[in-house]
Amino acid sequence: MTTAALLAVYAVAILAAAGAQLAAGFVAAGAAHPPNARERRLVVGLVAGAALAVLVATLAALLLASRGWWFTGEKLLVALPFTAVGVGCAIVGLVRWRREPVAPGPRVLLLGGGLAVTAGAVASWIIGYPPSPVATALLAVLVLLGTGLAWAVLARRGRRAIAGFAGIAAIVLAGSIGWVWLADTAAPSIEASAAHAHADGEPGADPADPEGGTGGEASAAVSVDELRTPDTVDAPVLGIELVAAHREFTLSSGTQVEAWSFGDRLPGPEIRVTEGDLVEATLRNRDIDDGVTLHWHGVDVPNGEDGVAGVTQDAVMPGGEFVSRFIADTAGTYWYHTHQVSSEGVRRGLYGMLVVEPVGGVAEALDLAVPVHTIGGAVLLGGDDGEQVQVVEPGTAVRLRVANTDRTPLRVAVGGAPFRVVAVDGRDLAGGRDVTGESVRLGAGARADLVFAMPDGEVRFGVDASGDSALVFRPRTGVVPAAGSAGPGAGPGASALAPAELPELDLLAYGRPSATPGEVPAEFGEVTATAELVLDRMPRFVGGAPNYAYTVNGRVFPHIEPIEVDEGDVVRLTIANRGFEVHPMHVHGHHVLVLSRDGEPARGAPLWLDTVDVRPGEVWEVLLVADNPGIWMDHCHDLEHAAAGMMMSLAYRGVVTPFEHDAHGNRPE
Ligand code: C2O
Ligand code: CU
Repeated sequence: MTTAALLAVYAVAILAAAGAQLAAGFVAAGAAHPPNARERRLVVGLVAGAALAVLVATLAALLLASRGWWFTGEKLLVALPFTAVGVGCAIVGLVRWRREPVAPGPRVLLLGGGLAVTAGAVASWIIGYPPSPVATALLAVLVLLGTGLAWAVLARRGRRAIAGFAGIAAIVLAGSIGWVWLADTAAPSIEASAAHAHADGEPGADPADPEGGTGGEASAAVSVDELRTPDTVDAPVLGIELVAAHREFTLSSGTQVEAWSFGDRLPGPEIRVTEGDLVEATLRNRDIDDGVTLHWHGVDVPNGEDGVAGVTQDAVMPGGEFVSRFIADTAGTYWYHTHQVSSEGVRRGLYGMLVVEPVGGVAEALDLAVPVHTIGGAVLLGGDDGEQVQVVEPGTAVRLRVANTDRTPLRVAVGGAPFRVVAVDGRDLAGGRDVTGESVRLGAGARADLVFAMPDGEVRFGVDASGDSALVFRPRTGVVPAAGSAGPGAGPGASALAPAELPELDLLAYGRPSATPGEVPAEFGEVTATAELVLDRMPRFVGGAPNYAYTVNGRVFPHIEPIEVDEGDVVRLTIANRGFEVHPMHVHGHHVLVLSRDGEPARGAPLWLDTVDVRPGEVWEVLLVADNPGIWMDHCHDLEHAAAGMMMSLAYRGVVTPFEHDAHGNRPE
């Protein structure tokens, strides 16, 4: 069974147990004195059902242990002890109830047992992983107070006893919620904590980090706004101006879209440079009231050029401007987007493509950047929706640089010709085989470069997000295409392409394998640091408001403990997804090398990603080489999830930021 299925079985079983046990308690409490035969049978049945459900949940939790402690830690340590006590009390209560059908004691035990099982059931949703001892203790106190209340009512202890228990329970409950609220809102923000932990380790002394730097030498704290591209760099300059504004467009399908954009069309202007060029982009904000920034997704720029509002700069408000400069040092496919209120800004159109061509030019004669974006109900492939037809000379090599700029996963496929995946996330992928009849999946934010040779028949590039939007390549020879006309080995005919129905190409098993699959390549040396990110969904306060939030290690932005590193660290990151939704985790300023997924070593060509698409129940191990000092965002690129808490930072010791989340309107998510 998959881990996600086991998580689902556990969830259903534990909820069923809680429901049955609570129902048993209430039926017993409300039963006649003495209970009639029907009531007895019902209570026996409910307690037995609850015990059975607890058994199933226990089995699922034990099996989950083999998939990783992240999935089951709080189940085995918190939830199941609660349920065991609950079921035990209920069984004792049941046995005594049959002997003393009018006494209050057995009924109290049955109700208290129900409360304990319920507490066990909710532990995974409110405590999660890692289990918190304080939260566990509070839960136990609430169960005891609830049981006391049941006793006060059933044993007719009078109004004062009832009010006493109810009052204390209400106070403890309110206190618990207040405690969570404080933890989620009042703690220092990540930037501040990274700064404080290291900049003023010695109050009053100079802000030197005694352990900072790579050589063990003391080094002064450096601010992110000093981590900029020096004015003195000598490289060919590509200057571009991007003006963020409200604009209206009419697509060729006739759809009118009201967008926020960086240029006169959607997406923003395609920036094409050659490896080694200096990009100098001037961002102006004409009328985006919430503010904008420019983030270069996948380009490992100096930290001060990263464009994250509240971390590396202040948001650019209407009338303002910001110039980012960076050397485009690795050929590949990238994109840029706003990183201020990005969940809304990107969706509305504040994005564009950045292509860095290799020195000497792109090998393929036809090279197209194809950002895929959903807006106003239309699915844009590049700048338009619907079928976009091009006539191509047979034999021409065609490169499609596909980017998923939406917040959900995208599946794409080529019909009518075999294709290869030659690059992913701006990094070349060596030795990939010809692919036919398989789709390529791109997590939110990801890119894949697909190459095919134009055959004599029609070729179609399609996406699962839309049956209507497609790129159609017609051979110049004027051959009339027909379904299946492409001949053997070409996969699905161009006209019958449905990416959603094709099996997915597994990029972890694609390309020329490295010598040591799944291991840390020798060139990086020993692993010097590790970190775990456990992704989940729990009720928390985000920005002070209650939210069914997306959490990392049980917490929400800006209070998730940062991953702290020193420059030169070789970091093994483990990312586990306990939830039921996919989380495309994006690290700024770095690419990570995939080591394994679900314990299976990556067997394909070395896969360097900037966005790791972690599906429900999956565990990924990736390697991050800390070679780019700064305070870097690390977040889910389902930007709605980021806005609902799933955003944290990778912080180099000794780096501080003068910028503040929430100040000057800064809201990176
Ligand atoms: Cu593409 Cu932090 O973003
Ligand atoms: Cu997510």
